[in-house]
Amino acid sequence: MPSVYVSCRLPEPIPAELARSFDVTAHPGDLPPTREELLAGSAGRDGLLVTPLERIDAELLDAAGPRLRVVANHAVGYDNVDVAAATARGVVVANTPGVLTRATAELTLTLVLDLLRRVTEGDRFLRRRGPWIWSPVFMLGSGLDGKTLGIVGLGRIGRAVAQLGEAFGMRVVYASPRPQQAPWKRLELAELLARADVVSLHCPLTPETRHLVDAQALAAMRPSAVLVNTTRGPVVDEAALVDALRAGTIAGAALDVYEREPEVHPGLLELEQVVLSPHLGSATVETRVAMGRLCVEALEAVLLDGRCPANALDPAAWRAAP
Ligand code: GLV
Repeated sequence: MPSVYVSCRLPEPIPAELARSFDVTAHPGDLPPTREELLAGSAGRDGLLVTPLERIDAELLDAAGPRLRVVANHAVGYDNVDVAAATARGVVVANTPGVLTRATAELTLTLVLDLLRRVTEGDRFLRRRGPWIWSPVFMLGSGLDGKTLGIVGLGRIGRAVAQLGEAFGMRVVYASPRPQQAPWKRLELAELLARADVVSLHCPLTPETRHLVDAQALAAMRPSAVLVNTTRGPVVDEAALVDALRAGTIAGAALDVYEREPEVHPGLLELEQVVLSPHLGSATVETRVAMGRLCVEALEAVLLDGRCPANALDPAAWRAAP
């Protein structure tokens, strides 16, 4: 059986499904492998199943060696993978698009509602066990109906968030490097930032989008607006965000991802107008099983069936394979 290294724990029944087709070595425990463990664990394998926490670069691909044919990245985002380096070595990389769209969009709307209706803030308040009483002016938030939702990056997840926002009565605008077939108005980013009540980030992390939301972008937002990030932490300059929240440049933020994960900027932890979740975008049982299955399918396609996986990031790698 082909030999596969798995860097993470996976939900049932994925481990059993992998074991049916492959000789699996799984990294033990709940913490990700160190770089050294990853390099050693990958050596001599035919396939790897990894997460966004592992950097798959030329060094790793060389350490894995010439038998390596496929890397299944257990995520839709693949900023952790040097796809060109993999293609140059005839290694096919596949990701897990589609199956996590809905879960991530739902989490995004959860964060928006939580932030604007002050649910987690109210929870913290009650747990402090101070006195309180209902009143017509107690802990007022704001509703979604009629508000403008600015989607930055109109891929699958951005579209799903736009549709859910519309279901709550929001007006949707979007910014994207290229015009898209979509029923919503496309704006330049600067205009979107100036207009939106909720700015929600859905662009991938690339050299162009690193710190896309910096001090200048935050200054362009409305003082009553909020920022939501469920894509990748480094799209936001976290220190600039803390400054903007402290100064009242924007009204609040809801974050699922962090610039230096798993670290969270200490300034964010102190602010009431911030909702934080620990990278839960795709974290439903159904979605994680579906993501695991796509990884199994990608490994099987290359190592058992001799075909290019449906979610290959660069099918040229398949053609270049020795
Ligand atoms: C998770 O962060 C993903 O990219 O799927």
